[in-house]
Order: sequence, then structure tokens, then C-alpha cells
Amino acid sequence: MTEFPDILIRVLRQAERVAALTGAGVSQESGLRTFRDAQTGLWAQYKPEDLASPEAFARDPKLVWDWYAMRREKVRGVEPNAGHYALVEMEKRVSQFTLITQNVDGLHRKAGNRNLLELHGDIQRVRCSECGEYAEAWDENGDMPRCAGCGGMLRPDVVWFGESLPRSELEAAVEAARGCQVFLSVGTSGLVQPAAALPFAARNKGAVVVEVNLEPTPLTAKADFFLQGKSGEVLPELVKMVWG
Ligand code: APR
Repeated sequence: MTEFPDILIRVLRQAERVAALTGAGVSQESGLRTFRDAQTGLWAQYKPEDLASPEAFARDPKLVWDWYAMRREKVRGVEPNAGHYALVEMEKRVSQFTLITQNVDGLHRKAGNRNLLELHGDIQRVRCSECGEYAEAWDENGDMPRCAGCGGMLRPDVVWFGESLPRSELEAAVEAARGCQVFLSVGTSGLVQPAAALPFAARNKGAVVVEVNLEPTPLTAKADFFLQGKSGEVLPELVKMVWG
């Protein structure tokens, strides 16, 4: 059982505006590797950074397509964990709760969070790399799936390294960070901008910053509370202590 400082319990209980930023660590207990965990099998020879980029797609579109097809399959096979459900409960308990995620696995939506900002897109969504049309279905018969409308190559609807984040989601995330009373950063290494700047934006506006992670990150020294542990254990315990 994690011990929580009384002041943290009180601050969360009284908070009307809370924002949470999540990273791959939240999905780790659902069985999904984090972004910086080593890859296995056929993909062990590649680093995600070498696959999740426009350059990689231009160089070898089928390789990139197959990597995402494999990840889509993995995501289809996993369920949200107790950490995801704790964030759903938090959204029910706090009058203004905004969930900002870097994850593309769709597990927060599957768990039931509604006010959700997917900064890096959703791996289950596929769009045309030429005309931008979303594709509901495509044939995976071995060669590169193509857009029914314009014949362009299909790609996952995620933000690749070097690409800009969806503007409306990012603006809403910054607004939520600046306006909240408590900002939680959960299961993220805090290495990738602009998401990594959100907790600092909250802190600069006087929010209480709470970090949940297995290990320290660049945020830890600036956080008001560092709850070290698995998000699937810490978050449910925190929600129970604060809201019963
Ligand atoms: N509970 C809490 N934290 C965990 C757990 C867990 N069960 N398992 C791992 N972590 C922590 C790790 O300590 C690490 O700090 O989760 C973090 C995962 O970090 P990354 O793998 O870097 O994932 P993330 O922070 O989401 O990456 C951010 O970078 O590569 C891009 O677009 C990609 O969205 C990704 C972004």
C-alpha cells in the first residue's frame, strides 16, 4: 500500500480542475512494451525512432506499414488495466478533468475516459498519406495498402518524429495544463517535446505537480509529489484514498 501525504489527499479532494498527462508506462501493465523498451523478434533490429518517421516511411513504406500492423494486432489483444480505470474514476469525481495522452493505443478511450486529448494520434486509425482521407478498411494482401479515393499509400494516423502535433489537441492540452490546480504526470519519461513541457507549464501557473513513475525522470526534481511505483497500483490506491 503506498503512503500518500495528507496534503496531497486534501489538495486532490478539493480540486475542481485536474489535468493528467500519460505515457507508455500506463499501458505497460496491460502488456504493451513502453516506447523505449527493447523490441523483440523480427523488430528487435529496429529502434522505434527508425520506424516512426516520414523518412522511414519514404525509404521503406511496407516495413513501416507492417510494424504498425503488428502493433495494431497487439493493441487489439490487450485490455485497459487498473491504472486506466483509476483515471476514468478520477474523471467522474473531478468537475473539470482533462486526460492528455501521448499513447496511441486507444486504451484510455477503451477504458471510458471522455475528455481525452490524444497528442500523438491513434494507431487504430489509418489515413491516406496523399489526400488525408481516413480509411475504414483496406486489403492486407501483401503489398502496400492504397487509398480507395486517390490511390495514395495508407499510413497510421499517428504523429511521427519530426511531424507536428494536431493543433487543436495541443492547444487544448496547454490550456488544461495552465488552468489546472493539480497536474499529474503518469508513466512518461518526459523526454519528448512538446508534451514534456506541459507539467512545467502547469507548475509555472501554480498547479501542484504529482508524478507517478517507476523511476525518476527530468520532472521529478520539480514535482511537488513523486509517487514511485506502478501506475496500475498507485493510481487506484490514490483514487481510493482521495474519493473513497
Ligand atoms: N508504471 C509507471 N511508470 C512506468 C511503468 C509502470 N508500470 N512502466 C514503465 N514506466 C515508466 C518508465 O519508467 C518511463 O519513464 O514509463 C515511462 C515510459 O517512457 P517511454 O518509453 O519514453 O514512453 P513515453 O514517455 O510515453 O514516450 C513519449 O515519445 O517516442 C515518443 O511518441 C512516442 O509517445 C511517445 C513519446
